[in-house]
Amino acid sequence: MRKKLVAGNWKMNQNSAEISLFASDILSRLQDSTPNADILICPPFVYIEQLKSLFAHSNIQLGAQNVNNNKNGAFTGEISAAMLSDIEIKWCIVGHSERRKYNHESNTELTQKIEQLFSMQINPVFCCGEMLPERNAGNHFEVVKKQIEGVLWDLPEDVINTITIAYEPVWAIGTGVTASNNQAQEMHAFIRMLVSGKFGDTLAQNIRILYGGSVTADNASELFLMPDIDGGLVGGASLKAESFFQIINSCK
Ligand code: PGA
Repeated sequence: MRKKLVAGNWKMNQNSAEISLFASDILSRLQDSTPNADILICPPFVYIEQLKSLFAHSNIQLGAQNVNNNKNGAFTGEISAAMLSDIEIKWCIVGHSERRKYNHESNTELTQKIEQLFSMQINPVFCCGEMLPERNAGNHFEVVKKQIEGVLWDLPEDVINTITIAYEPVWAIGTGVTASNNQAQEMHAFIRMLVSGKFGDTLAQNIRILYGGSVTADNASELFLMPDIDGGLVGGASLKAESFFQIINSCK
């Protein structure tokens, strides 16, 4: 049985006052519940330390939104996997569509990022997903297949074992348009089938595949009931403790 994972991607949002309020709110809500999911928040780098102390005695884990693909050196403004490990970070998002778009991240770079994270025992949350014209043209399976093969297929099985995949159709991110339960489920089943074909069924049955793209407190329960959806990567609705808590609580 795969345990659900609910991951919040805060992107470039929140300030320290908002974070303090968020933390006390979510901690008091979680106090009286036994969530059926692993909980992860990926804040901007500069707030990781603040959240680390706020969440020190909770089961909320922290992750980064990005890592550099090099080990160290002259890369002004960048953060390495060793630095994340140094502050005890265990998770990192890789290949979010916003970074692919604005930072032109290539498949080769994404593979290198995953290798860097693996060397520091940090679990990558690898994002994939098609754009609207690709879906409208009926190419969505092919696009996602290429993204997955292009980044993951050269990696050894022990690296793949540490990965969580997040399927995030670009047309659903921040738009309020969620993929239907069936659209999401059929893509998740397809991804699991690809992983099974390459790395075997045991690994494929163990790997978590999250859905992302306008997940809200209203649609999470139904999405998370689908057999191949193992939780969510949540942007907008993770910024408020109330909605994030409701999404966590949707995990049955
Ligand atoms: P959203 O973002 O929930 O605001 O659509 C999801 C994401 O980009 O990970």
